[in-house]
Amino acid sequence: MIRIEGLTKSYGATQALRGVSFEVHRGQVVGFLGPNGAGKSTTMKILAGFVTPTSGTARVNGIDVTADPVASRRLIGYLPENNPLYEEMMVRDFLDFVAEVRGIPRERRAERIRNAVDRCGLRAVLGKDIHQLSKGYRQRVGLAQAIVHDPDLLILDEPTTGLDPNQIVEIRSLIKELGREKTVILSTHILSEVQSTCGRVLIINDGRLVADDAPERLGKGEGGTVTVVLASRTGALLQADAVRAMLEGVAGVTGVEMAEGEGAGTLGFRLRYGAEDIRRSLFEAAVRADLCLLEVKRQHVSLEETFRKLTGGEASRGPQDPGTPSLAA
Ligand SMILES: Nc1ncnc2c1ncn2[C@@H]1O[C@H](COP(=O)(O)OP(=O)(O)OP(=O)(O)O)[C@@H](O)[C@H]1O
Ligand SMILES: [Mg+2]
Repeated sequence: MIRIEGLTKSYGATQALRGVSFEVHRGQVVGFLGPNGAGKSTTMKILAGFVTPTSGTARVNGIDVTADPVASRRLIGYLPENNPLYEEMMVRDFLDFVAEVRGIPRERRAERIRNAVDRCGLRAVLGKDIHQLSKGYRQRVGLAQAIVHDPDLLILDEPTTGLDPNQIVEIRSLIKELGREKTVILSTHILSEVQSTCGRVLIINDGRLVADDAPERLGKGEGGTVTVVLASRTGALLQADAVRAMLEGVAGVTGVEMAEGEGAGTLGFRLRYGAEDIRRSLFEAAVRADLCLLEVKRQHVSLEETFRKLTGGEASRGPQDPGTPSLAA
């Protein structure tokens, strides 16, 4: 559906893209992550045919978006960053206008608009001016204008930015639903959004692609932590130092720190491990030491850690997401 090869883009002295290549197959929902200024919007604008690349090519369904923007735009629905809309227009008139500009034949317009309105839940606000709408409804209007011509590919630049947690959930489920029949590429700063919505994640940093994988596979093989709670099997008093030394000796453990236990007679630890799974040797070591494992909980390196590592970022003020932790470098 999308084939991008060696894409570069310079704005004067600023190199926004430094050679980005990737493919997206039909039916995928792809999350585009990256710190502020990484080049997400630039890539999306090029795909949508609004910005010309300096070099490289972007194809949608085999059509070069630079050589034939009219044909490629027909296949694409685009929700730009900040969702610019005609504030003074009524929702109904705005969608009429978009349908006309999109070249939908007059006899099909009403039906296409009805479909977009129903899918985006806009019936109740059709008679309102856009500037009267809440952000969530504005975003729905943005999505409706993106799907009115029934495109195969949706390009959504930060579709949930600025929404409250309830609206985020609503827009997300709408996107998921659209993703059942369309190819979707969406950018976001909310890492959990990628985990819940996307089957694949692309991470871009400083104009280059630095990761491309399923969200649950990113960071796999890089280890993580195992939290354990231990008790004595014999009723003997546990010596924290001795237990710690035992845990440090378990094959594959790279670090041990104390954590919460579960009350009297128990000890808790957080173990770091590298590539190999330590749980089996942990169990055997515990049995040898006459210890009982009350809890063993493994956590892979999180998407957040992977993101920070790949983009060299310190956690900092992420824009706009009151409810969910967000990240930006
Ligand atoms: N029209 C423009 N003129 C000059 N520089 C631009 C222009 N648009 C983008 N840039 C620069 O290109 C780089 C990439 O910007 P882009 O908007 O693609 O980043 P982004 O990943 O979408 O960031 P954000 O997360 O903040 O939306 C940045 O350094 C930005 O300042
Ligand atoms: Mg952007």
